[in-house]
Amino acid sequence: MNRVGFVGWRGMVGSVLMERMLAEGDFAHINEPVFFTTSNVGGAGPDIGRDIAPLKDANDIAELQNMDVIISCQGGDYTKAVFGPLRAAGWQGYWIDAASSLRMADDALIILDPVNMNVIKDGLANGVKNFVGGNCTVSLMLMAMGGLFREGLVQWTSAMTYQAASGAGAQNMRELISQMGAIESGVAAELANPASAILDIDRKVAATMRSADFPTANFGEPLAGSLLPWIDTQLENGQSREEWKGQAETNKILGSSAQPIPVDGLCVRIGAMRCHSQALTVKLTQNVPMDEIHSILASANDWVKVVPNEREATLQQLTPTAVTGTLQVPIGRLRKMNMGPEYLSAFTVGDQLLWGAAEPLRRMLRILIE
Ligand code: HSE
Repeated sequence: MNRVGFVGWRGMVGSVLMERMLAEGDFAHINEPVFFTTSNVGGAGPDIGRDIAPLKDANDIAELQNMDVIISCQGGDYTKAVFGPLRAAGWQGYWIDAASSLRMADDALIILDPVNMNVIKDGLANGVKNFVGGNCTVSLMLMAMGGLFREGLVQWTSAMTYQAASGAGAQNMRELISQMGAIESGVAAELANPASAILDIDRKVAATMRSADFPTANFGEPLAGSLLPWIDTQLENGQSREEWKGQAETNKILGSSAQPIPVDGLCVRIGAMRCHSQALTVKLTQNVPMDEIHSILASANDWVKVVPNEREATLQQLTPTAVTGTLQVPIGRLRKMNMGPEYLSAFTVGDQLLWGAAEPLRRMLRILIE
């Protein structure tokens, strides 16, 4: 089980995966890491501290068939093009994927081992070979809320999201910064003059954001100084696809699709770089005291951190700025709501590229190769 093929390792999620694998010493557990490319066959692979073969062709089914495990961060189009022919050619290896294309397939599991190790273990015992990372918002919500789900305390939940630019892609992160820069440079002179009128500045900012020159090629609309209350495609029932994933993926991860726990809410893009935040309303199955809720949440995994519902701690610890680049998933703003003692509010933040993308894949690989 020790020939592992990497596809899409140069992109944003793939680069985070490489960083994390190097940090955790994962390559020491792999006899033969093989790096594939769609554009630079024969070129040099990444520096992983040991000799590796030149890059192989990611579309060469025969080369891919030599792998025991393939881990792809190349995206859905690649998966759609290659996965079918590879299996049709008789390949029996393990496929680990960051893209969503195979997520809801009956023969695929969504991987988030701190939450669903039991589902993963059962799947492996039953011969499942396809393992797919979950939607970032869903994975981050479950990392934070895993304890309440584990204890069967969630009757339903509504997640109102504040999703970062990184979820839309690397080009979108760049565009967000360009938009911020365009806004600032349009009013630099007025900002430098303390006597300038704020409403004049505001009018100029709005004109800049609405102008045809404002950089919106990737988002399609201004995000900096604004927000976008629709993520992904439109479904016939009025949900966005991102909102649809909330219930579908949560229950698939938990193994409860037969009797799904209702999950719904609105998904909104905001001008954060790579941390998704979510405001949760939870209908508990019973009136659980707050101290018990705290200990159930905190005990669920090594990364969730309960932040006391106090102003200073919240503003220091429960923001994208505090969390970005870390594996911690803080959850706070925990209190019973006016609707009654079974209604809990919560707010959670997590790095979309770590637990939301690369980390569950990295850990699945370790589960397979150990
Ligand atoms: N669909 C997510 C987003 C990212 O747009 O933020 C990937 O799960």
